[in-house]
Amino acid sequence: MLPIMSLLKLEDVHVHVEQKEVVKGVNLKVERGEVHVLLGPNGSGKSTLLRAIMGLPGYGVTRGKILFEGRDLDSLKPYERARLGIALMHQNPKPISVKLQQVIEELCKRYGAPQDLVQKLGVNGLMDRELFKGFSGGEIKRVELALTILQKPKLAMLDEPDSGVDLGNLRLVGDAINSLANEGASILLVTHTGVIADYLNKVDFTHVIVDGRIVASGELNEMLNLIREKGYQAFMRWTS
Ligand SMILES: Nc1ncnc2c1ncn2[C@@H]1O[C@H](COP(=O)(O)OP(=O)(O)O)[C@@H](O)[C@H]1O
Ligand SMILES: [Mg+2]
Repeated sequence: MLPIMSLLKLEDVHVHVEQKEVVKGVNLKVERGEVHVLLGPNGSGKSTLLRAIMGLPGYGVTRGKILFEGRDLDSLKPYERARLGIALMHQNPKPISVKLQQVIEELCKRYGAPQDLVQKLGVNGLMDRELFKGFSGGEIKRVELALTILQKPKLAMLDEPDSGVDLGNLRLVGDAINSLANEGASILLVTHTGVIADYLNKVDFTHVIVDGRIVASGELNEMLNLIREKGYQAFMRWTS
């Protein structure tokens, strides 16, 4: 029998951005259906890591490997990775001259996802608007999340789904992430405040990333308490 491969496996991943090493040797395994939270201060390489997994230009892996279902992603373009089932919810998406309605219809046709998931995120009022043009911070997050969910990903990478979202809408965002997890998707969620954690039904593993390295992994509340008590500085000594 073939061994069962991890959904995502990062082996000593290094990423350079503009000639600067930003991700400095990350090892991580995400199995099917698991929810992983990545915590870390601004500039620690969280978004860079997600972009490298998606294969975005300018975020190439300079050392190490990214394996998805056992397959080395190195030579694959972002759209090819998307076809394998990887989706990235961007932190700051660029405006596009196409109406949200059109994008949603296209995604529903392509992936057969039910539109009611989207209604739960309260984006109906934005259907006639051009994508992300003039959207508030919270609207961007909800629409990005809706578009991610509609791709029915095996792995959803969510970059700060909680930043800029007001308290009322945090519940909507949390519920949408929970339903994504209930559908069996694995989730790699980046947050620098940890606010969204209160709204998630389950978190399997939490990792702290400082200066491009995972410096601690454990249970969510244990990690959050450490950070709240001692700050990210407490982890710095592991990085030097
Ligand atoms: N496109 C880019 N050009 C130049 N520097 C970048 C770019 N993307 C990221 N960086 C730099 O890489 C470091 C890590 O950034 P990032 O991964 O966005 O951090 P985080 O998401 O943890 O806040 C920062 O110093 C940031 O300025
Ligand atoms: Mg970021």
